[in-house]
Amino acid sequence: MRKRTKPGAPPISAPDPRPLLDRVVLVTGGAQGVGRGIAQAVLGAGGMVAIGDIDRDAGRDCLRDWDVGARAFFSRVDVSREAAVARWIRSIRQRFGHIHGLVNNAGIAEPHGGPLATLQLEHWQRVLATNLTGAMLCSKHALPALRSAQGAIINIASTRALQSEPDSEAYAASKGGLLALTHAMAVSLGPDVRVNAISPGWIETSAWKGPGRRRAARLRAADHAQHPAGRVGTPLDIGALAVFLLSDAARFITGQNFIADGGMTRRMIYLP
Ligand SMILES: NC(=O)c1ccc[n+]([C@@H]2O[C@H](COP(=O)([O-])OP(=O)(O)OC[C@H]3O[C@@H](n4cnc5c(N)ncnc54)[C@H](O)[C@@H]3O)[C@@H](O)[C@H]2O)c1
Repeated sequence: MRKRTKPGAPPISAPDPRPLLDRVVLVTGGAQGVGRGIAQAVLGAGGMVAIGDIDRDAGRDCLRDWDVGARAFFSRVDVSREAAVARWIRSIRQRFGHIHGLVNNAGIAEPHGGPLATLQLEHWQRVLATNLTGAMLCSKHALPALRSAQGAIINIASTRALQSEPDSEAYAASKGGLLALTHAMAVSLGPDVRVNAISPGWIETSAWKGPGRRRAARLRAADHAQHPAGRVGTPLDIGALAVFLLSDAARFITGQNFIADGGMTRRMIYLP
């Protein structure tokens, strides 16, 4: 929304209260956790959301809770399987006609895979296939629709792309790969499609899980206090940033990684 100034003077702009009005946004892994927070933020911004997730119960639970009719759609899809991804994207195009945004959020979110000496190749390949290959496959198949809509892609990486605890090689590598995929795609797909990454820090998702697994968060004062922002993050913190990056307000932003971690990676730590 623009306000009037004198003719020839630069405009005064005010934030749009519904920046994704009638835009169609795909959120992988959107049935629970961070992805559900992103999906709900998209709905709150006026958009329509198509969730692709392997957890059917959690997906159906979202549709029941939201009760927004045709503005939300759930499909069971495994993002690591190309044929399934291609089918999913085709069905979304048939249903909605357009795709304006893709959020590659689906992931095996447990970072700890055990010591390198005993790391199973099967574990490494499973984590890479879901967290990294899945983002490439969804981007590849959504690309024609995203191009014609001048759309945007967001890859959900992690602060673990930049720093590590021991025994988290597969997860860290998958997230580091996502940051590289982000700038590679931004350069290849621009100016039609913008591509950015969000790297969340500690996001508490217990209350955002699917049926049967949802519970109140159990956080200590010390958990919050180690964040310069004073608290652990929520899925809506990531949703708010995703809405901005998907919106026209971010048209000049591509190829970047945005860290949303309450400042935790900026804190210098010396043991007492
Ligand atoms: N929670 C955090 O603190 C945190 C921090 C940094 C990054 N992240 C990232 O955010 C994303 C979401 O994490 P979360 O904590 O909400 O985890 P989560 O386990 O609550 O949610 C992940 C979702 O992805 C779905 N999924 C898993 N494999 C899939 C596949 N092959 N195909 C389709 N869907 C699949 C799951 O069913 C689930 O709904 C992940 O990429 C994770 O790495 C999370």
